[in-house]
This record gives sequence, structure tokens and C-alpha cells, in this order.
Amino acid sequence: MCSSSFSPFLPLILLLLLFFSLPSVLSVPTYSPNHITSQNHDLLQPNTMPLSESETLFKIMDSMSSDQTWRVSYPNPCQPGSTWPGIECKIGEDNRLHVSRLDFGNPPNPTCKKTATFPPQIFALPYLESVFFFSCFIHTRTELSVSEMGFLNNASLQQFSLRSNPSLTGPIPPRISTFKSLQILTLSQNQLSGKIPVELFKLESLIHLDLSYNMLTGTVPYQLGNLKNLVGLDLSYNMLTGSIPTTIGQLGQLQKLDLSSNLLNGTIPDSIEKLNFLSFMALSNNRLRGNFPKGMEKLQSLQYFIMDDNPMHIALPLEFGKLVKLQELRLAYSGYSGKIPESFSQLKNLSTLSLQNNNLSGEIPVAFGGLAHIYHLNLSRNFLDGVVPFNSSFLKRLGRNLDLSGNPGLCLNHSEAYSLKIGVDVCGRNNNHSLMQPLTSHSTTTSELSNQFFLLSLALGFLGILH
Ligand SMILES: *[C@@H]1O[C@H](CO)[C@@H](O)[C@H](O)[C@H]1NC(C)=O
Ligand SMILES: *[C@@H]1O[C@H](CO)[C@@H](O)[C@H](O)[C@H]1NC(C)=O
Ligand SMILES: *[C@@H]1O[C@H](CO)[C@@H](O)[C@H](O)[C@H]1NC(C)=O
Ligand SMILES: *[C@@H]1O[C@H](CO)[C@@H](O)[C@H](O)[C@H]1NC(C)=O
Ligand SMILES: *[C@@H]1O[C@H](CO)[C@@H](O)[C@H](O)[C@H]1NC(C)=O
Ligand SMILES: *[C@@H]1O[C@H](CO)[C@@H](O)[C@H](O)[C@H]1NC(C)=O
Ligand SMILES: *[C@@H]1O[C@H](CO)[C@@H](O)[C@H](O)[C@H]1NC(C)=O
Ligand SMILES: *[C@@H]1O[C@H](CO)[C@@H](O)[C@H](O)[C@H]1NC(C)=O
Repeated sequence: MCSSSFSPFLPLILLLLLFFSLPSVLSVPTYSPNHITSQNHDLLQPNTMPLSESETLFKIMDSMSSDQTWRVSYPNPCQPGSTWPGIECKIGEDNRLHVSRLDFGNPPNPTCKKTATFPPQIFALPYLESVFFFSCFIHTRTELSVSEMGFLNNASLQQFSLRSNPSLTGPIPPRISTFKSLQILTLSQNQLSGKIPVELFKLESLIHLDLSYNMLTGTVPYQLGNLKNLVGLDLSYNMLTGSIPTTIGQLGQLQKLDLSSNLLNGTIPDSIEKLNFLSFMALSNNRLRGNFPKGMEKLQSLQYFIMDDNPMHIALPLEFGKLVKLQELRLAYSGYSGKIPESFSQLKNLSTLSLQNNNLSGEIPVAFGGLAHIYHLNLSRNFLDGVVPFNSSFLKRLGRNLDLSGNPGLCLNHSEAYSLKIGVDVCGRNNNHSLMQPLTSHSTTTSELSNQFFLLSLALGFLGILH
């Protein structure tokens, strides 16, 4: 009805639309290129890259990448419209073109050749602001060297990222501290060794520091506290020893802290309570002991607390129940004993709770059944007992992400115990308290059988189609 009443006007409207849009459609291809080139012409024509700088750049390319014969194919690295892949240029106060960014390793950026070694010449590029070398140094051993300082303007470099370079070895050079404006330093997934140089902590502009996945040794220097602007600190997967420095409490902006998989000992320092913005803290796989700091509950921004595998050997602190933003709480393999605090059920946003492989006893708090966002719950291998307080809808919702196995004293109400593989026997069926096996193996065979049945019916269906 409606469309038919408008249909007489439709061609007219279309025609009008076409009429008005036509000039502008035509004008785009005719005006736009002229406009751009003339602007570039005025702006850039008198500007070229200083010869010494382009020569430096050619040398860097010679040592890094054989994707192109750079001198021949791209004689003008910053040529407007055909800048080299993997670099960015800017116009300096001297009205000349300069390289501001180098990004190698991942196509479409230049890839690195087998013999690529770290090019210290980059520090002679006076306008360099960011460096990204990803998966570059893989075959030939090379060291990070900041010795040839050249004429680098020491305030230009803001971001320095060398990631996934398995043949980048040796220490982090103390002279890295000359890059006063460095905000992001990423030296992750290399083979760097030796101590973290204390000079590094003079870089007070640092916002992100990531030295993870190396072979760094020694302690975390107390000078860490100088980095007042730090938002992210990742020293995970190294071989750092000693304790977490108390000065960590001075990092008032810190949001992410990852010290996992080191050899850190002692306790978490009390000063941690000052980290008001901390939302992610990972300390797994160290040698940290209990107790937790008294002020732990002040970490009201905390969403992820990941601290598996430390010899804590204390009771689980009730105060964790006050960290209401927690989404993930992992405290497995750490010798916690006593009961699971009822207060944990106040963590309404919790989606993952890992308490497996501890020494926990008593019953599972009844209120856990009301954790509306829980998605992954592992309480396996403890000494929990009593009736599992979860109804069938809870059990269905978590499915395979619920693991209660290895708690000989736990049992399931019969009505809830339909074919679920959570590793718990039905209450009263067998009071032997060591028999999770029958249910598990039974349900395995059931699912195997149903698989076989499924395959069989497929085969029959297939034969049916043939006939
Ligand atoms: C860095 O620059 C500052 C001034 O901006 C200067 O005082 C200092 O000596 C420079 N450092 C190096 C190593 O060039
Ligand atoms: C931590 O380990 C170091 C050796 O790495 C040792 O000297 C120190 O006593 C240990 N501290 C504690 C509190 O265990
Ligand atoms: C829980 O999560 C929801 C959605 O992510 C969020 O809006 C809410 O603020 C969170 N509650 C707390 C106490 O953090
Ligand atoms: C586990 O807890 C029991 C008491 O419930 C205690 O006797 C035992 O020493 C604890 N084991 C460990 C490794 O903490
Ligand atoms: C299961 O328990 C939850 C929380 O106690 C409750 O909200 C829900 O209605 C229960 N579902 C059934 C089917 O009993
Ligand atoms: C177990 O079943 C009994 C009887 O069916 C019921 O009274 C009890 O509340 C159930 N317990 C749990 C934890 O569901
Ligand atoms: C629970 O933890 C145990 C021991 O680490 C692990 O083997 C199991 O796969 C985990 N279960 C789930 C459902 O994550
Ligand atoms: C309990 O388990 C033991 C072996 O662990 C077995 O000898 C015994 O027969 C079992 N009792 C029942 C009632 O199943």
C-alpha cells in the first residue's frame, strides 16, 4: 500500500538525488589529486632528508633486510607517497625530512634476513621516536648495544620495542638510561641475561616496562620506586631472586603488575596496599610465603589476582571477599589449609576461581551456588567434604569447567548427579569416601558408547543415502 502510493514520485526523487550528487561525484577524481599534490609540493619539495641520515638508513637496511635492494629500489626513503614500508617520517624544525619510526619483522613491514644483527646506527637517527623489531634476530647471535650514541637527540626516543628475538643475547646496557623520554620499553621474549641495570630506573618517563621472558638474574632493584609514572610492569618469566622491593608501593599509577615465574621469596610487601589503581596482579610460580599484607583489602581496583604455585601454607584470608571487583582469583598449588571462607561468595563478579591442589578442608560454602558469573571453578585435589551445594542448573552451566575431583569426602545429591563428570560420587551410594572412579569411568564409557552410536547411525544414514 504505502510503497505503491509513493511509487509515482520515486523516479523523480532518484533523478533529483542523482542530479545533486553528480557534480560532487565528478569533482572528487578531478580536484582531489591536484589538491593533494599541490599541497605536498609547497610543503615538501624544498625538504629532503639530510644525506648523512639517509646514508645511515641505508646502512641499517643493509644489515637488517634483504627484501629489496633499498638503495636502488627506494633511493629516497621518505619520498611522499612512496615512503619505505616499515618507516615513518616527519619534518623537523630544520624543515627537512627525518625518520621517526622503524618497524621491522612482520610483513608488510620489511622482514629481517638470517644474518641480521642489532644495528646500533639507529641511535644516530636524530628524530627517531619509535623502534619495533619483532622476530628479527633469530639466527645470528647479537647484543643490544647503545654504545655508538652518534648525534642522537637524547630526548626523541619514546618507544623502544624488541620482542621475540631468540638470538638477542647479553645484558641490558646501562646506557639505555640516556633515552630520557622513553615511555615504553619492551624487551620481551629475547635471551637477555645478567642483572637489570639500576640505571634503567632513571627513566622516569616510563609508563610501560616489559622485560618478560628473558634470563635476567639478580634482584628487583629498590630503585624501581623511582618510576612514578609506571602503569604496566612485567618482569615475568625470568630468574629474579630476593624479595619484592617495598618501594613498589611508590608506583602510584600502576595498573598491571606481573612478576610471575621467577624465584622471588619473602612475603608480599605491606606497601602494596597503596596501589589504588592496580587491577591485574600476577605472582604465580615464585617462592613467596604467607601472610598476605593486612592492607590487601584496600586494593579495591583489583580484577585479576593470579598467584598459583607459591609455598604460602596459611589459611585463605577472609579479606579477599572484600575485593568485590575480582573476576579471576587463582590460588592453586600453594598449601592453603582450613576452610574456604564464606566471604568468597561475596565476589559477585567472579568468573574464575582456582583453588585446586591445596590442603583445604570442610564444606564448600553453600552461597557459592549463587555466584552468578562463575564460569570456571576448580576445587580439585583438596580435602573438602560434605554435600556439593550446587543445583542442577549450576552444574549444567559450568559443565566441564567445574572440577571437584580428588576430594574423597565430597558427594552429590542423587537428583543432581546425572551423568556429570565432576569427579564426585553420589551421596549414600557408597560411603567408602575414596570412590570417585566408578562414576567417572562410567560416564566416560557412556559418552564413548554414545559416540559409537552416533558414528554407527551416521554410517547407517550414509548407507541409506546410497540406497
Ligand atoms: C641529553 O640531553 C641533555 C639536555 O637535553 C644533556 O644535558 C645531556 O648531556 C644529554 N645526554 C647525552 C648522553 O647526550
Ligand atoms: C631469599 O633468597 C635469598 C637468596 O636468593 C636469600 O639470601 C634470602 O635469605 C631469602 N630470603 C627469605 C626471606 O627467605
Ligand atoms: C561487575 O561487572 C559488571 C560488568 O562487567 C560491572 O558493570 C560492575 O561494575 C562490576 N561490579 C563490580 C563490583 O566491580
Ligand atoms: C594439611 O592439613 C592438615 C590438617 O588439616 C595438616 O595436618 C597438614 O600438615 C597439612 N599439610 C600441609 C602440607 O600443609
Ligand atoms: C539454583 O540455584 C540458584 C542459586 O541458588 C537459584 O537462583 C536457581 O533458581 C536454582 N535453580 C534451580 C533449578 O533450582
Ligand atoms: C539433597 O537432597 C535432599 C533431599 O532430596 C534435600 O533435602 C537437600 O536440600 C539436598 N541438598 C542439597 C545441597 O541440594
Ligand atoms: C583443575 O586442576 C587440575 C589440577 O591442576 C587440572 O588437572 C584440571 O584440568 C583442572 N580442571 C579444570 C576443569 O580446569
Ligand atoms: C571400600 O574400599 C575398600 C578398598 O579401598 C574395599 O576393600 C571395600 O570393599 C570398600 N567398601 C565398600 C562398601 O565398597
